[in-house]
Amino acid sequence: MSRFLVLFTLLNVVFLHSGILLGNADDESARKPYIVYMGALPEERMSVSLSDIHHTLLSDVIGDEAIAKNSKIHSYGRSFNGFVARLLPHEAELLSEKESVVSVFQSRRRQLLTTRTWDFLGMPENVRRRHDCESDIIVGLLDTGWNMADSPSFNDKGYGPPPAKWKGKCVKGVNFTGCNNKVIGARAFDLTNMVPPNETTPLDTDGHGTHTSSTAAGISVRRASLFGVAEGTARGGVPSGRIAMYKVCWDEGCDDSDILAAFDAAIVDGVDIISVSLGGDVSSYLDDSIAIGSFHGSEKGILTVCAAGNEGPYLWTVHNVAPWVLTVAASSIDRKFVTDVKLGNGQKFIGTSLNTISPKKRFYPLTNGALARNTSHFEAGNASACKYETLDASKVKGKIVFCQGVGGNIIVHALGAIGTIMTDDYTEDTMFVENNPLSYVSVQEGLKIDKYINSSRSPHGVIYKSRTIKNAAPFIASFSSRGSQEISSHVLKPDITAPGIDILAAYTKFATVTEHRGDTRISKFNIISGTSMACPHVSGAAAYVKSFHPNWSPAAIKSALMTTATQMRATPLGAALSSGSGQIHPRAALHPGLIYDIDTEEYISFICKEGYNNTAVALITGNKKYNCSNVCRAKGDDGINYPSIHTQLDKNVTEFSAVFYRTVTHVEDCKAVYKAKVRSPKGLSIKVIPDILRFDESNEKKSFKVSLSGRFLDKKTWYLSGSLEWWSDSKHNVRSLILVYRDTYDD
Ligand SMILES: *[C@@H]1O[C@H](CO)[C@@H](O)[C@H](O)[C@H]1NC(C)=O
Ligand SMILES: *[C@@H]1O[C@H](CO)[C@@H](O)[C@H](O)[C@H]1NC(C)=O
Ligand SMILES: *[C@@H]1O[C@H](CO)[C@@H](O)[C@H](O)[C@H]1NC(C)=O
Ligand SMILES: *[C@@H]1O[C@H](CO)[C@@H](O)[C@H](O)[C@H]1NC(C)=O
Ligand SMILES: *[C@@H]1O[C@H](CO)[C@@H](O)[C@H](O)[C@H]1NC(C)=O
Ligand SMILES: *[C@@H]1O[C@H](CO)[C@@H](O)[C@H](O)[C@H]1NC(C)=O
Ligand SMILES: *[C@@H]1O[C@H](CO)[C@@H](O)[C@H](O)[C@H]1NC(C)=O
Ligand SMILES: *[C@@H]1O[C@H](CO)[C@@H](O)[C@H](O)[C@H]1NC(C)=O
Repeated sequence: MSRFLVLFTLLNVVFLHSGILLGNADDESARKPYIVYMGALPEERMSVSLSDIHHTLLSDVIGDEAIAKNSKIHSYGRSFNGFVARLLPHEAELLSEKESVVSVFQSRRRQLLTTRTWDFLGMPENVRRRHDCESDIIVGLLDTGWNMADSPSFNDKGYGPPPAKWKGKCVKGVNFTGCNNKVIGARAFDLTNMVPPNETTPLDTDGHGTHTSSTAAGISVRRASLFGVAEGTARGGVPSGRIAMYKVCWDEGCDDSDILAAFDAAIVDGVDIISVSLGGDVSSYLDDSIAIGSFHGSEKGILTVCAAGNEGPYLWTVHNVAPWVLTVAASSIDRKFVTDVKLGNGQKFIGTSLNTISPKKRFYPLTNGALARNTSHFEAGNASACKYETLDASKVKGKIVFCQGVGGNIIVHALGAIGTIMTDDYTEDTMFVENNPLSYVSVQEGLKIDKYINSSRSPHGVIYKSRTIKNAAPFIASFSSRGSQEISSHVLKPDITAPGIDILAAYTKFATVTEHRGDTRISKFNIISGTSMACPHVSGAAAYVKSFHPNWSPAAIKSALMTTATQMRATPLGAALSSGSGQIHPRAALHPGLIYDIDTEEYISFICKEGYNNTAVALITGNKKYNCSNVCRAKGDDGINYPSIHTQLDKNVTEFSAVFYRTVTHVEDCKAVYKAKVRSPKGLSIKVIPDILRFDESNEKKSFKVSLSGRFLDKKTWYLSGSLEWWSDSKHNVRSLILVYRDTYDD
């Protein structure tokens, strides 16, 4: 597991060729994998197979039958139409001009975005569940694979056979002997041969996929911990649910062609929710594998939940922005790790870090960088900060070393020190498990420690194993990606937040806990951070809602989670741009009162409104007669019945107005009257017409109009955020976030 959250940052990867060389060798190496996306499956059965159609298209543009044959890597065709082929740029261009082709794009590599959490989210172990329905729920994950049945989180004791709707497969591979009744499916996709074909396996050699799948749907495991730290019960959102693992990530990254192949399979396999803790550069919906795959999933009633990315705290960094996916930011839970330090004179300090190693002795000799300086080194740098080549190994070996600032631990550890105390006033919100004891104290406390070392004849001290304390919660992780986004300027992303800092969940025995050189420790559980860890919390919550409301559309489940979320404390950088509607509250989402539903046709009229042309839209829908000019549903500034309301303004705009149309569906079994309650800051006026909605029966729909107007009162203000809540009684208040964002953020 990489140290800094983002694992496979792989750009400019050299593709491994499968070995069949044909024609001109230069041509062959210039060919790159492209995805040729052709939209929906043809409605009628055809006399020729899709694969033949793909071949004909290819021969047509390549000219040479044999090269065409060898250049095709894979045909999609179970859930949507398209194929992958190795193409030269001009061939890609020619293909994109074909009438039957929606888009042609180069297959790129994406990155993985890396327990008390369910209690903290208001879902205690004894929360009301529908076990019978829940055990029919299948969560599909696109990830690094799975660690097989010997992990306690995936024990299938008491599980019946897979639900009847399951049509997927469990494919064996190297070191991977098969599935069980908990993890019912596992397949590996590697169309670009990142590993030798005889070594493809659904086995998780990274840990990420095992971690995310146990967070979404792992069973309860008591006394789970990372070497005694964070001990508690580890469990998933739907412990009775089933897991289907689609391995699309390898050491080199996660390829678009494999991501699409996994969606193509998962949609027909019968999964209920698709969880994607991956991200990459944001691009048009027509050449974004996750947007394409999730769109076809949504058509078939499957909600895709995606990680927002780990590129915060900067704005404009959110990934996975399509309106039909649920995009998840990462927040903290109410637990934090502290690592105590004690000196020989009895002084104690509460430092921070994630240290799993207990001291073997009561005290160890203590020194500082200045005292351990290598005196025969002439141009020595800052020894007090334990910089490279400033210290004398014989003076640190077997000791705990105090170093000013951060980073000294790597140097002193290599020289044989047994621990490091460092200083850091910037309180890191994210900890990483380390393979040697260390603790960060404040600069002020560091002075006290330094003084003690300077003034004692034989200074000594100890670093204890980390312990867990309560934390004021929740706050958004600094690494969590923020909005806004350029693809659809009226869709606020991320949508929602869930815990993603220091998450304890199952891990693979095929990777060490830090993956640092020299670390040999294997653990059944590990603590990791990332929007990757937040995403499966929401996938689990969505699965939980679906177990109560099996007929709800993906948009209805998403709306229920968004409008019942707990609002986050405002953070100075980004506010709603970082947390969306707030933190998930799964139990409240079972009874949202009203939902903002969106069907496939509305997504399509939205795509029209976003400027995609008839040809593309006709192919995506599989309806040749689709004509964007005749679509009248996309009313208002955004043209979509989204559960939040967002508008982006240019830099110098001071006055603004915008109109939004919304329709809510009453999903409770009783009559109800809802009143609109708006909250708005100075400068923003929100008008709702009508402001009372009466419902006589379940599933009744009512429409209303929201008009925003106002002005930015000063130059510095760059956003105005408010909300609209529909109130019926104390139980149901359906909140939509409203955010007017002005691009005045100077970097
Ligand atoms: C399979 O397991 C063995 C033993 O743990 C290991 O040496 C080998 O690298 C593994 N192979 C793969 C492809 O993971
Ligand atoms: C896969 O094939 C390569 C080369 O033929 C061989 O070196 C390797 O051991 C094989 N791996 C397995 C797991 O069989
Ligand atoms: C101290 O620095 C000198 C000069 O660079 C180097 O030769 C020597 O190995 C260093 N001594 C230790 C103990 O690191
Ligand atoms: C050495 O590094 C520390 C920590 O970064 C810093 O506070 C201190 O001023 C530096 N000392 C010198 C002499 O540069
Ligand atoms: C400890 O001594 C070193 C020099 O040996 C000095 O740089 C440092 O400032 C001293 N620390 C304190 C807190 O006095
Ligand atoms: C539709 O848009 C695509 C690119 O998005 C373009 O290549 C194509 O020519 C357009 N078709 C028409 C009929 O405008
Ligand atoms: C789409 O509808 C518009 C207006 O009704 C019409 O002018 C246009 O020809 C239609 N386009 C197609 C491709 O049918
Ligand atoms: C905003 O106003 C400033 C100063 O009036 C001007 O230089 C700048 O070009 C304007 N920016 C935009 C995006 O209009």
